[in-house]
Amino acid sequence: MCGIVGYTGRESVTDQILDSLELLEYRGYDSAGLATLNGQTGKIKLRKCAGRVNDLRGICKKDKKISTCGIGHTRWATHGGVSDENAHPHRCGDVLLVHNGIVENYEELKDHFMLHKELKSQTDTEVVAAVLNRLYQGDPHEAIRKTVQYLKGTFALVIMFADQPDIIYAIRNVSPIVAAYSGNGTMLASDVVALGAAAKQYMVVPEYMIMELHKDEIKLFDLNGKPHQTEFIDIDWDTTRSGKGNYPFYMEKEIMEQPDAMKATIESRVVDGRIDLSADGVPDDVLRDCERVCVVACGTAMHAGLVAKVLVQSKLNMYMDVEYASEFMYEDPVIDDKTLVLAISQSGETIDTLEALKYARRKGAKSIAVINVKGSSIARESDYVMYTAAGPEIAVASTKAYTTQLITLFLLVGRMAKVRGIFDDAAEKEYLKNLLQAPEKMQEVLDQKYDIHKIAREMLDAKDAFMIGRGLDYSILLEGALKLKEVSYIHTEAYASGELKHGTIALITENTPVVAVVTQTKLKDKELSNIREVQSRGASVVLLVKDGFDLADAEYADVFTLPAMADEFMVFPASAALQLLAYYVSMDKGLDVDKPRNLAKVVTVE
Ligand code: G6P
Repeated sequence: MCGIVGYTGRESVTDQILDSLELLEYRGYDSAGLATLNGQTGKIKLRKCAGRVNDLRGICKKDKKISTCGIGHTRWATHGGVSDENAHPHRCGDVLLVHNGIVENYEELKDHFMLHKELKSQTDTEVVAAVLNRLYQGDPHEAIRKTVQYLKGTFALVIMFADQPDIIYAIRNVSPIVAAYSGNGTMLASDVVALGAAAKQYMVVPEYMIMELHKDEIKLFDLNGKPHQTEFIDIDWDTTRSGKGNYPFYMEKEIMEQPDAMKATIESRVVDGRIDLSADGVPDDVLRDCERVCVVACGTAMHAGLVAKVLVQSKLNMYMDVEYASEFMYEDPVIDDKTLVLAISQSGETIDTLEALKYARRKGAKSIAVINVKGSSIARESDYVMYTAAGPEIAVASTKAYTTQLITLFLLVGRMAKVRGIFDDAAEKEYLKNLLQAPEKMQEVLDQKYDIHKIAREMLDAKDAFMIGRGLDYSILLEGALKLKEVSYIHTEAYASGELKHGTIALITENTPVVAVVTQTKLKDKELSNIREVQSRGASVVLLVKDGFDLADAEYADVFTLPAMADEFMVFPASAALQLLAYYVSMDKGLDVDKPRNLAKVVTVE
């Protein structure tokens, strides 16, 4: 959580940093701050406030003098409440510092260095700034090296020293920092999206190396002062795609981008009409020799794993676990060298997923990461990586990352079925034919977005809602319910519809909105009778149903017909409908769709 950015060069820094911070607000938006150091006058300006980057922009408007070196921060509060004092950057003496991560031993450090009197905030970050200031005797490397030796926890630290004009220093453990030549200078950020449109290549700062940003040069040193080569990766994301275009919110734009993102994710993995993962470097023997599959992931990525579980069990007849990454290693999971672990993550930085992956690898498991952000920590930690081609996802609520994760997992399962001798050529072709139709079937739903908007209007006043389905429908609804609750603040529960009557049906009263998804042929009749059970308790049922299913004569508050595909592929059109429903409810309630309260998109704290 938290977004950090730094720039040194020949251009005015304030707007650059504010623009980049805005792109990083998905990492937290409790407060924002900016410090500049004027190389000619030596003057430092520190501006920070509780609130959004836009509030900070207002404060910075009054600043006349131009600086060309500065650091900025957008915060997701962990230690200390949301206040001006707790906003970063923190200044202690000659040190200005921003931080992403958590320093666990900050109380001990306060005592050890007797810092109590000089601290103005409640943050762990200010303690680090104060320690660094204590240890700084004019040699930045020495002070940084000594400071990080005291720190326990995760950190990306970006530092300016008052007497080192035009240079920005950075060091990290776990929390990400990337850097690039950008806009007539050099730049660093928590994420590639914030590196500025001029950046063509970027580097991932290795852990426990000191990076120096100079106007014309990026330098890396180990903690002994030995210089290291910087390795750059091409930025192949179209950074113009990071804008909102003509949409009012990123979430809508990203929902609408899904068919293209799905096509891009499939295309590079189909060669001569067959699924081919050789470009990903995933060897067939890893897919053939594993005896069980285990997903570690959080949030939406975990829900993608739940869909894959249904597929793995039905197509591959294999045992599969899907675990919350945050619980995984505390449950003594059964992991060995016959386990294939799939770490699924949009950002590739979710710390729980990263730690779960490391744990599984220590136990001997092979691993494949399904990741959207190139070069991210989880990608680097995994044996193999399959990148999704979602492009930058800015809205906190994940949409195109989820559906491209699903596509990737479908491709993986298809290849596993082939190498394990379950699919013959004809079965593989049929499977792939269905998968290739997924983008266009999703497009059909997106083209009817106004019908879903009408349905959404009926739900605006709801306090609680339920989503019910069985089998794959239930797996999709877990994600649908998460989407609705996180962006609309309507308490929503997804329930396996057969399970409702064992308690939860007590909560169904007159006009409770219930969204039912019915797409699975073998479950249809049972699902329809579960719907009748809630209708007889007065529920108002919105039905999302596969085209061609006979509904008998029951009445529904609304019915949306999903374009038909083979049952297991119905997740794609159904997901689009559920995403749009959540989006429109949030938008019509006048909420900040892209930045729901209390959330951050990248969760780098356990
Ligand atoms: C946060 C985001 C979710 C996301 C989850 C996992 O909670 O708000 O949208 O699903 O983290 O993130 P990852 O980057 O690992 O997919």
